[in-house]
Amino acid sequence: TNTPATLVLLFGATGDLAKRKLYPSLYNLYEKGILSEQFAVIGIARRRLTHEQYRNWVKDSVETFGMPQEKIGKFIRHFYFQSHDVTDENSYRELKGLADELDEKYAANGNRIFYLAMSPEFFGTVAESLKEYGFTDTKGFKRLVIEKPFGWDLSSAVELNERIRSAFSEKEIYRIDHYLGKEMVQNIEVIRFANAIFEPLWNNRYISNIQITSGETLGVEERGRYYEKNGALRDMVQNHMLQIVSLLAMEPPIRLTTDEIRSEKVKVLRALHPIEKKDVHKYFVRGQYGRGIIGGKEVPAYREEPMVDPNSNTETFVAGKLMIDNFRWAGVPFYIRTGKRMQAKTLKIVVQFKDIPMNLYYRNGSSLNPNLLVIHIQPEEGITLHLNVKKSGRTMETTPVKLNFSNKNVDGINTPEAYEKLLYDILRGDATNFTHWDEVAYSWNFVDPISEAWAEEKADFPNYAAGTFGPKAADELLQRDGFFWWPIT
Ligand code: BG6
Repeated sequence: TNTPATLVLLFGATGDLAKRKLYPSLYNLYEKGILSEQFAVIGIARRRLTHEQYRNWVKDSVETFGMPQEKIGKFIRHFYFQSHDVTDENSYRELKGLADELDEKYAANGNRIFYLAMSPEFFGTVAESLKEYGFTDTKGFKRLVIEKPFGWDLSSAVELNERIRSAFSEKEIYRIDHYLGKEMVQNIEVIRFANAIFEPLWNNRYISNIQITSGETLGVEERGRYYEKNGALRDMVQNHMLQIVSLLAMEPPIRLTTDEIRSEKVKVLRALHPIEKKDVHKYFVRGQYGRGIIGGKEVPAYREEPMVDPNSNTETFVAGKLMIDNFRWAGVPFYIRTGKRMQAKTLKIVVQFKDIPMNLYYRNGSSLNPNLLVIHIQPEEGITLHLNVKKSGRTMETTPVKLNFSNKNVDGINTPEAYEKLLYDILRGDATNFTHWDEVAYSWNFVDPISEAWAEEKADFPNYAAGTFGPKAADELLQRDGFFWWPIT
């Protein structure tokens, strides 16, 4: 299953994402022999580099990940560089010249992928210019790949979408949410729809609540400028967290096609119980890290990070309770939490089942634990099922046990893996694991009142120490409903 002949125009070629994820992922595909030899990449960025300098850049980025190196010399010969100013007409003409030349040289049949891994302020301009200067007028396929953030709220997302839709149809647009490329995120669907022991229980009759925890130990690093404007709600909840919720909650699609799956996910997002501004405090909690200790080292508070306002009102942590207003889920809270500078880098889903009608074993001194299904997304990949069994010996006491399936060993994080899958999908034209416009729109629609409420009221920050699992209010959110966050480490 080789990928078709393709020319990739990569905007943002010297950026962090290209370096950390895209080159290593492309190389992985190449190394495995999946990438057709008829591929070329034009790296596009403002600075001036020769093709040779750029190839070395690509080489360096691949080498950082310590991959098998034999094919690297051959690989980088597929890369070309074009210095570019996204608002300058001449720039586009030069680029077009190179694109046409390479199209011919590699017999790419006019197949073009435009990958926007650049500052989002240019997404609209570049998409429109690609049309204006004839790039999209090609005899092969054309696909636009667009990184997040897709807008800043619903109205800016609508505006951006209109601009890119003037040059590309919805089917040609691949909005990246790299969580959809993660192995265990893709596994949610299979766990649900390929197992007779889960599918019948997957509803409000048997599930009491679902908890999704995403923790990072990193702080905001060098991204203060971006993060100050966005915060955890826009950075993680609007996209990654809501995508996971929609995969957990969707109805079985009638077929595993892009359109069928997307339409089921959209229905979940449509069914999210809207949170009005005045009720935000009942459903959502925000936090910002203060100083603390991570891995034995003292780390600074968010407000002390570079390019961050010393009085910043930006949240680095969000916890929320989502309700889904449909027959399957009415009454079942989906709790989410995500934050920077947490105790652990982790992403886990805990599905808590309802208690059985009565505990026959309490006279023997046993309290029964609820059954849990834990889906480990990262760093470990696997599932754990928590059950109660008999304690061995001359007793009828119960004891909890865990059935464990481990997909493979650690190091799943920060490897280019998710991107490798997504790039492969893009090259083959499979848009299933990308965000449809309707998903983007409904997600913003849900999130907007929350960010508006928070913008209007100054928070009492910092309210959690680095190296913890967020502010106390996040625990209280569950306590009010008689639940608690299951320990995830
Ligand atoms: C990105 C966010 O989308 O996801 C980052 O912008 C975050 O702030 C990252 O660190 C987390 O991704 P992962 O794959 O490490 O969980």
